[in-house]
Amino acid sequence: MKLPKTARSIAGKLIRSIPVLRRQILFSTDYRRLAGAEEARAVASQGWLTARTVKRQDRAYKTLIEDARAGEPRIDLRVAAYAVQATGLAAPNLLDVGCGSGYYSEIFAILVPGGVRYTGTDYSEAMIDRARAHYPAGTFGVADATRLPYPDGAFDIVFNGVSLMHIIDYAAAIREAARVASRFCIFHSVPMFDADHPTAFLQKYAYGAPVVEAVFGREELLTICNEAGLRLVREWPSIAYDVSAVTGQASSTRTWLLATGG
Ligand SMILES: C[S@@+](CC[C@H](N)C(=O)[O-])C[C@H]1O[C@@H](n2cnc3c(N)ncnc32)[C@H](O)[C@@H]1O
Repeated sequence: MKLPKTARSIAGKLIRSIPVLRRQILFSTDYRRLAGAEEARAVASQGWLTARTVKRQDRAYKTLIEDARAGEPRIDLRVAAYAVQATGLAAPNLLDVGCGSGYYSEIFAILVPGGVRYTGTDYSEAMIDRARAHYPAGTFGVADATRLPYPDGAFDIVFNGVSLMHIIDYAAAIREAARVASRFCIFHSVPMFDADHPTAFLQKYAYGAPVVEAVFGREELLTICNEAGLRLVREWPSIAYDVSAVTGQASSTRTWLLATGG
């Protein structure tokens, strides 16, 4: 039963005004700006490691995956597939870093002609347990993006979707991605300031648990990628993500396709 508009508006206001309610009901809440990487390391950010977060995220993604199966993939899923296709590689060997519940294994199978040879990795055991439960035939492993347990050049493509922003030592994660990729890295749906602005760190509650995230300064991110030997070859706008109320600056998410050996 759908509530009348006024009742929905009152219920919405009530939920947003009570911390315990809004954290349990809304996906992303309680954003606050942190002073920098040092404070980001000091605050609570273990949210992705808890089984409860995984369960809630899984529920939130259910419709997203059903829509993709029904031939109506959301913009960011399409952009991820464009980026893989733009490499021109047939059935590439792809590592998904920060893969969460592993649903990109299915999305690439649906949206990339010829598919990919997929491996998913995440530092959260709870996420990987869920990925294995959903996709028992898939290849998944627990690993931190800043210390990947793979040899140099082990994958044609290293893909990182909506995960780089949650890694405080993102420079190390970029170097590791560049090391294990033989041809391309894809940093997907990365929040960046529209104007030149230093990277900002935020803390928020994701699915009821605290996590840290970054909104990147584009030039800084590009410099780190270049220093890691990556060269930007294409980029796409991805899904809208407005945190300007917290950062004071307009930002958007971008998907970068970078070639190795640059
Ligand atoms: C917002 S979720 C994104 C999941 C999935 N890639 C997607 O696009 O929906 C962020 C993911 O990054 C993972 N993550 C955060 N820090 C990480 C790290 N240092 N190494 C590996 N994975 C990490 C989290 O466990 C979580 O699964």
